[in-house]
Amino acid sequence: MALQGFLAQLDEVVTAAEAAFSDAADSDALETARVTFLGAKKGRLKSVQQQMGDVERDDKPAAGKAFNQTKGRIEAAFEAAQQRSAGSSSGDTDSNQFDPSLPGTSFRLGTIHPITQTIEELKEIMGRLGFSIVDGPEIEDDWHNFVALNIPDDHPARDPLENFYLATADSMQEEKNPVGLLLRSQTSTVQIRVMEKTAPPIRIISLGRVYRPDTADATHYPMFHQIEGLMIDTNVTMADLKSVLRLFATSYLGDDVSIRFRPSFFPFTEPSVEADYYWNNQWIEFGGAGMVDPNVLEAVGYDPEEVTGFAFGLGVERLCMRRHGVTDIREFYKNDVRFLAQF
Ligand code: PHE
Repeated sequence: MALQGFLAQLDEVVTAAEAAFSDAADSDALETARVTFLGAKKGRLKSVQQQMGDVERDDKPAAGKAFNQTKGRIEAAFEAAQQRSAGSSSGDTDSNQFDPSLPGTSFRLGTIHPITQTIEELKEIMGRLGFSIVDGPEIEDDWHNFVALNIPDDHPARDPLENFYLATADSMQEEKNPVGLLLRSQTSTVQIRVMEKTAPPIRIISLGRVYRPDTADATHYPMFHQIEGLMIDTNVTMADLKSVLRLFATSYLGDDVSIRFRPSFFPFTEPSVEADYYWNNQWIEFGGAGMVDPNVLEAVGYDPEEVTGFAFGLGVERLCMRRHGVTDIREFYKNDVRFLAQF
């Protein structure tokens, strides 16, 4: 046999072996290919080797050398394929291992409730105007919710149907007019609590929940939030009230906002007004306000000849709704994240 023919066979085997190894899809296929080419008994390389005996004597050293090189190449190709397949299968395990260089799994962050955001903003604005923030209880007594606020016994606001009275042992004994505790119906209660404990001058706001047995609709909810303001000093006038409300509305709405007063009535203010602000080309109801009634000042032990003051009470939901274009108060309390996440 001519050397040429022998070398051609070696070439053929090495090409076929390299293709087979690189085509092997998994370690089983690779092993089958290994047996086909490198198998000790019936491998194709072995059968080429057996033909070396037919090569002419002078060519034998060259044939032997070529054979060894080919064997080396096929073995190397097999090892490379083996490493590739090991690498890809162990790649699966690797991906389960902790890799500190990868970006972390991010948590979905919640958002602050729009009413809470509004409250924080209102506190901030009034804080800049020198008002400090005080808190009051949501469960109140007759005295703070009505009596000290100059709301007489027969006032419709005290009707059991207008309030969430608590069924305490005391109140159960009274048949018609429950006394005792109720969920506060207004934050004006806090005016009384502060004045009872503090000597004038006073400049406070109080923000919190109030409760009224209203049927929920687009503008009513049995629980809502109010911001109450109270300023007591010598010579406080309605002009101060108007300035504070104007600055307040202007800061919150971000425009220069006008305020208008309409005559109204509250038992605890005299005179009393409904305040409106002018925004987006219309007058919008702001809330109730007025000069603190002398009877209230007396109820907390102040001398109405010495000090005067103003008070106002505004709905927080209403402010927030106007500013953000929310048209149904119930949206705030459905806990639908699709709504809440927009703020
Ligand atoms: N408390 C009144 C209300 O709930 C609002 C108000 C507060 C009015 C202070 C005057 C002064 O409607």
